[in-house]
Amino acid sequence: MTKDELWKPEIPDATLGAGAPPVGSHITDVKSPAPEAELGEVTLEVKNLCTYFYGEEGVGKAVDDVNFYIRRREVLGIVGESGCGKSVTSLSIMRLIPNPPGKTVRGEIIFEGRDLLKLPEDQMRKVRGNKISMIFQEPMTSLNPVFTIGDQITEGIRLHMKLGKHEARERAVEMMELVGIPASRERLDDYPHQFSGGMRQRIMIAMALACDPQLIIADEPTTALDVTIQAQILELMKKLQERLNTSIILITHDLAVIAEMAHRVNVMYAGRVVEEASSRQLFKSPKHPYTTGLLASIPRVDRHGEKLCVIKGTVPSPFNFPKGCRFINRCPLAHEKCENEEPPLIQIKEEPGHSARCWLYEDKQDASVSDEIRRKMLKAGEDMGETE
Ligand SMILES: Nc1ncnc2c1ncn2[C@@H]1O[C@H](COP(=O)(O)OP(=O)(O)OP(=O)(O)O)[C@@H](O)[C@H]1O
Ligand code: SF4
Ligand SMILES: [Mg+2]
Repeated sequence: MTKDELWKPEIPDATLGAGAPPVGSHITDVKSPAPEAELGEVTLEVKNLCTYFYGEEGVGKAVDDVNFYIRRREVLGIVGESGCGKSVTSLSIMRLIPNPPGKTVRGEIIFEGRDLLKLPEDQMRKVRGNKISMIFQEPMTSLNPVFTIGDQITEGIRLHMKLGKHEARERAVEMMELVGIPASRERLDDYPHQFSGGMRQRIMIAMALACDPQLIIADEPTTALDVTIQAQILELMKKLQERLNTSIILITHDLAVIAEMAHRVNVMYAGRVVEEASSRQLFKSPKHPYTTGLLASIPRVDRHGEKLCVIKGTVPSPFNFPKGCRFINRCPLAHEKCENEEPPLIQIKEEPGHSARCWLYEDKQDASVSDEIRRKMLKAGEDMGETE
């Protein structure tokens, strides 16, 4: 099956075998995620999460009633353009939203049967970096330049695993070897600037894994790296995740990364989840006009010369969302109802786990709806005169 065929809504699910190729355009040497059947129980559940910022402009609803869950061994992708609320979602889970100006005003984050939003801070510190850890986009800003790598990796190990200095250093060497840092023992006393960008990101992964977390939140973990190193880091994360049974929330604006890594995907737009689906469903048959536009904007070598979609306009400010559908100003299929009422997530019939926040699926859900959306999104991009 070709990448083109994955696009066509009329292809029945059954024809997409386990080995169906991903849509990713530039990452080629990473394998598909582990089979769904191997996933375990729910690790974390986010319910009705609302995180707002308060400023002179009023209230910015950066994350507004977001719901999702992740299972053991699962990779959940969160994708969307800049400013749609991906990082605020992850920082809310870690309870790291700066207050003021931000605050998680509503919701539940259920982890090991407890609501993280209700935990006392000393209990939350035991969760952070231990049971749930984070990998950030730019390792240089997350690693402290004045401390050695060894000091920084052992800090969390000593705190959470209660190991002595010697044992913690041994554990640090073990983790550095695991993530493929050559001469790990000798390099333990080097400083961050003595490592390349790719190696620093490996160190971040070593730190994130050091205390055997159940969940890793990786916020744009490879964005700052060049394409070859990006593929190596993704491959490494996937191997370690499968070996250590960890769950990963993978945040990215890059659909190619999602195609390679994630079992399921939440597409975020303007503080909301606008589409949720398995990766297979999403790439085979995107439903929301926004997702359709994002997918049609990926350049592909197998479609040389074909016009790409450009989604006109920008994500609205969280201080000033439109009254109805938040995508309305960019949507060529907007109609009267979209102006007045915001759509709920509508379950797509015959596709368990697939839903889209768009009125077009309220009454009719056959392939003609998705076809029409794709046609109109491409046409709107062409009309801007910016496509080639
Ligand atoms: N400290 C803050 N004060 C005010 N607004 C904030 C703050 N942090 C985030 N926001 C706003 O919240 C919204 C969501 O931001 P967020 O960082 O989650 O976006 P993102 O999806 O992670 O984007 P990117 O892909 O650029 O990382 C944005 O409009 C942003 O301006
Ligand atoms: S609800 Fe209306 S404006 Fe929103 S995405 Fe659907 S068609 Fe477009
Ligand atoms: Mg971000």
